Amino acid sequence: MKAVILAAGKATRLRPVTLTMPKALVPVANKTLIGYAFDVLKNAGFEDIGIVVNDLDSPIPQTLGDGNGLGINLQYILQEEQKGLAHAVNLCRDFVGDEPFCVFLGDNIFQDKMAPMFANFLSSGAESAIALGEVSDPTRFGIAELNHDGSIQRVVEKPKEPQSNLAIAGVYLFKASIFDAIGRIKPSWRNELEITDAIQTLVNDGKRVDSYTLKGWWIDAGKPEAIILANQLVLEETPYMPAPENKEQIIGKSEVSHRVFLGKNSQVIDSVIRGPVIIGDNTIVKNSYVGPYTSIGDNVTIEGSEIEASIVMKNCVIRNIPGRIDSSLLADNAQVVAASHMPVAHRFVLAENSYVQL
Ligand code: G1P
Repeated sequence: MKAVILAAGKATRLRPVTLTMPKALVPVANKTLIGYAFDVLKNAGFEDIGIVVNDLDSPIPQTLGDGNGLGINLQYILQEEQKGLAHAVNLCRDFVGDEPFCVFLGDNIFQDKMAPMFANFLSSGAESAIALGEVSDPTRFGIAELNHDGSIQRVVEKPKEPQSNLAIAGVYLFKASIFDAIGRIKPSWRNELEITDAIQTLVNDGKRVDSYTLKGWWIDAGKPEAIILANQLVLEETPYMPAPENKEQIIGKSEVSHRVFLGKNSQVIDSVIRGPVIIGDNTIVKNSYVGPYTSIGDNVTIEGSEIEASIVMKNCVIRNIPGRIDSSLLADNAQVVAASHMPVAHRFVLAENSYVQL
């Protein structure tokens, strides 16, 4: 069985981060979002994975290549226009052939590896199976209503009056029959071909669609708050690791707790770090406090500042900031520094959709 990961969306809700970095490559606990999808798929035995991208020269193929080194075979499928998830799935027809296949939304991150869902599908006789998770805001998702045996009775995309709180959670198993169903649906009110409508077509045809209810947390990581929450949930699962004591890395009056991962050549100088925290390579934390649920990338400098529950990507500088930085997302090369000369004023160079709260 092959799998396809849909990663061609424009990710406008994550701007300015996604102006230069596709959402699939945004790091959560210093691992790309799409890396978590690979983990689930590899755990279920998938080796051949297609990634739907909006540009074959984008950083996704440039970074991930043919998957060599990741233990998977990657191929790329181009979706030039974003005409909906069903449109993206339809473009994968040649890649998956006539075999059953998995569709995984590249911006969803799960605690559950969903092994029973994958293991049972081929022998179940169902035409499709979809993962469902409970949500508090069902109008934002595809919503499922179930029969007594747990199979799907009805699915509705973003219902105004939801009949359940079970959301379609971005992992789907299909047989080749989905392509015929996609061929019969019409664009929705948002002018997209909805995969939810194609699944409803299978149900209308009298085909059985099974459901799998997710265990644990699931995040649709489309917005900065969601990425920061996902970072917290992943770091929370860091297994116990004793406090690092290497004198070449922990210097001066520093206090570094357990569950702190410190990368190569990184140094903590006269600073306090309370885990769970992950720090990449060649990063310097000096006269600073780094609190729980913080992920810091490679080549970062944090000096004279306090930060927690945040993501700081590579090559960033944070220097002499008064007050604590909390729940923040800094993309590659961002700088947040105190004024070093008069007038001591706020100065900003912000990209489209930047957000500053002082
Ligand atoms: C898409 C699907 C929706 C599903 C959601 C999960 O929504 O259309 O059915 O519940 O992903 O993340 P979208 O992100 O396009 O609004």
